[in-house]
Amino acid sequence: MAKAIQAIRGMNDCSPSETPLWQWVEQQIKDTFTSYGYTEIRSPIIESTNLFKRGVGEATDIVEKEMFTMVRDEESLTLRPEGTAGCVRAAIEHGWVYNQEQRLWYIGPMFRYERPQKGRYRQFHQAGVEIFGIQNAEADAELILLTARLWEKLGIRDKVTLQLNSIGGLEVRKKYREALVAFLQDHLDVLKQDPDSERRLVTNPLRILDTKNQALQAVLDGAPKLYDFLDEESRTHFDRLCTILDNMGISYEINPKLVRGLDYYNKTVFEWVTTALGAQGTVCAGGRYDGLVEQLGGHATPGVGFAMGLERLVLLIQEVNTNITLPRAVDIYVISAGDGVAEKAFGLAEKLRSALPQLRIMQHTSGGNFKKQFKRADKLGAKIALVLGETEVAANTVVIKDLLGEAEQVTVSQNDIIQQLTSRFA
Ligand code: HAM
Repeated sequence: MAKAIQAIRGMNDCSPSETPLWQWVEQQIKDTFTSYGYTEIRSPIIESTNLFKRGVGEATDIVEKEMFTMVRDEESLTLRPEGTAGCVRAAIEHGWVYNQEQRLWYIGPMFRYERPQKGRYRQFHQAGVEIFGIQNAEADAELILLTARLWEKLGIRDKVTLQLNSIGGLEVRKKYREALVAFLQDHLDVLKQDPDSERRLVTNPLRILDTKNQALQAVLDGAPKLYDFLDEESRTHFDRLCTILDNMGISYEINPKLVRGLDYYNKTVFEWVTTALGAQGTVCAGGRYDGLVEQLGGHATPGVGFAMGLERLVLLIQEVNTNITLPRAVDIYVISAGDGVAEKAFGLAEKLRSALPQLRIMQHTSGGNFKKQFKRADKLGAKIALVLGETEVAANTVVIKDLLGEAEQVTVSQNDIIQQLTSRFA
């Protein structure tokens, strides 16, 4: 036998037994986004590498070491590692944001060359939202209310907590960066225990706040706080957001160490985190990026958004919500045997699909006796088997057999079958 080829590390197949849950989750997400008046955009999976360098930031982990990049006709192209930069690129290119408000959503695969582990993959899926043209904290609040509603629908509301912070504007972060670096210079011995953080002291000091190294975390508890450096406008914006959330009964933790790993943020940043998934506990993250549109060549336009990781959401739901009723793969299984009966079964199945489009109707097509066909119907979890033999064809009848309940098997006229099935699936 030839050697089988396997999927690339960190890139997963979604099996037929998993897709019903994925489809259900995606449907809840899409319904929630649309119920707030957001419209979907679809943009390419490959973009110019420069978009991410300029958008996400040269000194971020994503751009430094996680991009899947290739060169074609001397042009450097990258599989999108996230959705915001592409969304902003498209919005500028097509004039969607010039002097306009936009509420957009997207869903699809993203690619990052990270070390795979539970909840962290090289191809993963995000559903995200971007609001353009609104600078008020009301837009930030709307995003949080929307996600809280979605968690409710997904049955994970009490498994996730909201972490919030404000990182102010560029000037604020510049001053804060100086203060943080000065503070860390006095703790170089501890910093050296975490090579990533030691490197970031030069490239991206604020990301050191994200360290997983416990000794360094303890040192950072005494570090200057970004909040104390905030300008008046950022502070007012943040206070307004907190007031709305308080009024709406949304609880949150202010996490002064929350800075996010992408460079485009300013003012509000937030993450929804869970303790149920181990190390990869952030299921949804986002914030404001008022400078990004201009930075990517558009007219200055405020922006705010988030993205959620679908693999993490599905894992969390599988872990904590066992009450979901997913649709059956097959409602009705059409069984037939005898001379010329299969042809009649095709006619019956097609008639039912036209009359009852909401039902999933599968016809047995691989031959064999009734016993084998019933076995197949059971295996598929069908609710009802419709049985057609030579006797039924001659009498223009069909047998209805209830496979899940206790109801007696009945023979009905084919003229009454739609009415019979309608009442059984009411
Ligand atoms: P991010 O924090 O890089 O933000 O990713 C958002 C979410 O995507 C994470 O919280 C996580 O759930 C999921 N995720 C990220 N990387 C992986 C991975 N390797 N495997 C599985 N899931 C992952 C962004 O991407 C921003 N574009 C969010 C945003 C939108 N900010 C404003 N608008």
